[in-house]
Amino acid sequence: MNCTQEDILESTADHIRNLLAGDSSGHDWHHIERVWKTAVTIGRGESADLFVVQLAALLHDIADWKFHGGDEEAGPRAARAWMDRFGIDEPTIEHVCDIIASLSFKGAGVATPMCTIEGQCVQDADRLDAIGAVGIGRAFAYGGHKGRAMYDPAVPPTPHDSFGAYKKNAGPTLNHFYEKLLLLKDRMNTSVGRQLAAERHRFMEQFLEQFLAEWNGQR
Ligand code: ADP
Ligand code: NI
Repeated sequence: MNCTQEDILESTADHIRNLLAGDSSGHDWHHIERVWKTAVTIGRGESADLFVVQLAALLHDIADWKFHGGDEEAGPRAARAWMDRFGIDEPTIEHVCDIIASLSFKGAGVATPMCTIEGQCVQDADRLDAIGAVGIGRAFAYGGHKGRAMYDPAVPPTPHDSFGAYKKNAGPTLNHFYEKLLLLKDRMNTSVGRQLAAERHRFMEQFLEQFLAEWNGQR
């Protein structure tokens, strides 16, 4: 099939919009759309290949391991199957699949290096959507979806040092802030990512302070 890059991006956006419509775990189409926009904004400043950036942003949650029995290969596999139908060149397909495979946070003590600038832009955009006001909303949506407690003072946060331990975790949602969300600002790849993350980080700190004060009847 001979398609322009614009055609491919439009078909891909339509496909993902249909696939993720109705999701209530924080991985809905609007998450993808926000990551797509933010990744393009960051990518422009970094002179990244915007076709790769956009394909990876649009396809990054096509089959998340969290919803496929922990299978880390499900995402890259589904992305490749989708891209194959357009006759996209193999290096581009490989690049997009590598980005999707390396994107996820895997625990406080686990490094998640991203080799290319395109991957770095998408990783920053995905992580920005996990923090700040939207990130707080998504964390509680995910926790509710999984039937988790909102907070339990008797269950302390765990700094996971392996992806296996992180995957198995089923603690209260408030712990997720200490196990992941508050760590993201120091793991940004780009300067724009760092700037945006700093502001969102402050907002989460204020939220946590207020939440715990209310919990303890102090405010
Ligand atoms: P990642 O690719 O790093 O796994 P995603 O884009 O898939 O990130 O989004 C993960 C979203 O799900 C985030 O908003 C995150 O807060 C939420 N989430 C993941 N695990 C938990 C958890 N244990 N408790 C609460 N929210 C979670
Ligand atoms: Ni995502």
